[in-house]
Amino acid sequence: MLNMTAVYSRLLIFFLLISLQPVDVHKYLPEWESLDKRPLPQWYNDAKFGIFIHWGVFSVPAYGSEWFWQHWQGDKKANYVQFVEKNYKPGWTYADFARDFTTEFYNPDEWAELFESSGAKYVVLTAKHHEGYTNWPSNVSFNWNSKAVGPNKDLVGMLADSIRRKTNIHFGLYHSLYEWFHPLYLMDQANKFKTNYFVKSKTMPELYELVNTYKPEVVWSDGDWGTGPDYWESKKFIAWLYNDSPVRDSVVTNDRWGVGTMCQHGGVFTCQDRYNPGVIQKHRFENALNIDKNSFGYRREADLSQYLTIEELIKTLAMTVSCNGNLLMNIGPRKDGKISPIYEERLRQMGAWLKVNGEAIYNTQPWKRANDTVSNDIWFTAKEKTVYGILLKWPKTNNLQLGMIQPIQETQVTMLGYQKTLHWQKRGLGGGISIEMPNIPLPLLPNPYAWVLKFEKL
Ligand SMILES: *[C@@H]1O[C@H](CO)[C@@H](O)[C@H](O)[C@H]1NC(C)=O
Ligand SMILES: *[C@@H]1O[C@H](CO)[C@@H](O)[C@H](O)[C@H]1NC(C)=O
Repeated sequence: MLNMTAVYSRLLIFFLLISLQPVDVHKYLPEWESLDKRPLPQWYNDAKFGIFIHWGVFSVPAYGSEWFWQHWQGDKKANYVQFVEKNYKPGWTYADFARDFTTEFYNPDEWAELFESSGAKYVVLTAKHHEGYTNWPSNVSFNWNSKAVGPNKDLVGMLADSIRRKTNIHFGLYHSLYEWFHPLYLMDQANKFKTNYFVKSKTMPELYELVNTYKPEVVWSDGDWGTGPDYWESKKFIAWLYNDSPVRDSVVTNDRWGVGTMCQHGGVFTCQDRYNPGVIQKHRFENALNIDKNSFGYRREADLSQYLTIEELIKTLAMTVSCNGNLLMNIGPRKDGKISPIYEERLRQMGAWLKVNGEAIYNTQPWKRANDTVSNDIWFTAKEKTVYGILLKWPKTNNLQLGMIQPIQETQVTMLGYQKTLHWQKRGLGGGISIEMPNIPLPLLPNPYAWVLKFEKL
């Protein structure tokens, strides 16, 4: 016969031992299967809107795009070659531009104030773009960094400090794995990536240094094409980031960690630049959108027509958030450290819009459908039982017909920033709602760009 007491006491000891196990801090293994299981931090899901900043030596020629060096001396595009021939001394090199990265007007407190007033909840600054120049005094960047040549400042550290001192914005960093012309990268490439001297002596030391020094809550990786994640040692790095780094609980990564990872592995999916799928995505994504349609870096030759309008930006924000994404809206500061008035205006306009309508953006979730079935130009978000419709065009008839909203008698329709409730009727054929848009005197119109209808008690 079984001695039940012995069985029970053994079971008890067994469960006691299990409960005494220390919490395993190495819970993520350097494999996608494990890394992909980590949920995105809640702050990031709630934030919805961030600012991307492309700033570097490319901001000195400030011509074409931030790919200036590659287009000039890599693919030798005619307009870039001619631009240098025409405007710079014979024998000019890309490194010669760095001296003129003057940043004399760089006032990170001012930047922080501007970002806060834009309504952004996080910023992502290029710590290093594909040109290899580091905006901080990196241990492994020798003479190609912002302390050694150009600004003579720690641009990254100064912004991190201002953002944290002045605002509640989360601070993040962009980092390019590869560098177009780094001799060690070129050597590894010539070796068909069977060696990874570049990764061991440059990319990885730099990434660990960045995270340990500045504790970014976004590590936005890029420049991962050419070869797969094994060469880049990215899985090992991400496992460290999630398990042991000083930002292990709050950090967000993206999906650019080597060929085959984009839109497949990592944290948030960026897929391609300006990714705006238009339908609800299962996996959270981020739309990296340049306000200057032709460039992420500052371009002196840009016309007004090449900048997205505030209406276009709000439309993209609405679509992106409705479909389960965050919008990362990009600006390119000038080499002197000033954010040009056109970018400043877009940021302040967005902030003014969000001040009234942010309730339909922050802390929301996608609703059951992203847009309406009857009317164009209305995008939905939801928060618990409340549904928001972001209306991008005011109907010419002052009558708005929606197929997706099925009202009951108690349903309330209001407009954010406007005092009175809106009159509505059930739509006859096919169901839905018919809303009487009010004739609002212009001074009482919440804003001129786009309006949010709030549906309660549906
Ligand atoms: C950079 O190198 C110096 C000297 O080796 C070291 O003291 C410092 O901790 C390093 N900094 C970082 C952030 O790794
Ligand atoms: C909803 O959005 C999709 C994707 O952008 C579009 O194809 C469709 O026409 C939209 N529906 C309406 C009614 O506007």
